[in-house]
Amino acid sequence: MIEIKNLKKYYGERTVLDIPELIIKDGEMPALAGANGSGKTTLLKILGGIIKASEGNLSLTGNILYMPQNSYAFRGDTVRNIMISGADRKSALELLEKLELSHLADKKAKSLSGGELQRLSLCRVLSKKCDLLLLDEPTSACDAKGAELVINAIREYRNECGCTVIMSTHSPMLALNASDRLIILNAGKIESDGSPGETLANPGSQWAESFAAGWKI
Ligand SMILES: Nc1ncnc2c1ncn2[C@@H]1O[C@H](COP(=O)(O)OP(=O)(O)OP(=O)(O)O)[C@@H](O)[C@H]1O
Ligand SMILES: [Mg+2]
Repeated sequence: MIEIKNLKKYYGERTVLDIPELIIKDGEMPALAGANGSGKTTLLKILGGIIKASEGNLSLTGNILYMPQNSYAFRGDTVRNIMISGADRKSALELLEKLELSHLADKKAKSLSGGELQRLSLCRVLSKKCDLLLLDEPTSACDAKGAELVINAIREYRNECGCTVIMSTHSPMLALNASDRLIILNAGKIESDGSPGETLANPGSQWAESFAAGWKI
């Protein structure tokens, strides 16, 4: 279980995250939504131990894997870019097949397109087991087919290892198809929190209602 109490992050005078309480149960799959700058990446980075909160308490246990918002490639070919995380060649190739990147296995990873690189980045993360998977906008560079492959791979991984998956997204499709909870952030505060369908139908505040209006699909 992840438990957050009175968590704040500020830069200088500016508070960019202010969460009085948030509990995420083991195995939950919440999606974090909200406008640019609302604090999604900041929250994921704090959960992943990449940055520290300025105030408050965070309790969580277990292995954490984090996929950053900006995908990157190491030198070398695509398959080695997965093996760098410790995976053997066979399982790296299986992951590439799952994300429909097999034809690029021997190509330089740095030559991949944005959407291909994002799927490779996911392969690298999914090559390891964890208790908590943090994904920062995992479909942002993907076309419709690529997003579907990513969603299926995340769901399959989650079903196999039973981990908690927290992902940030601007994609209603991702939130509705791969999440069981939608947390909407507005200027660093939780504006709305509930099941994705329910939250979009009854956003709970005027601000969340206008946000949800743009999310109706
Ligand atoms: N190192 C930093 N120094 C100062 N301000 C920062 C720093 N990192 C983030 N911020 C600010 O914190 C706010 C929240 O940023 P964050 O990256 O969490 O937003 P986000 O919800 O992930 O946005 P996006 O949808 O664009 O990815 C932003 O206004 C950003 O400018
Ligand atoms: Mg972000």
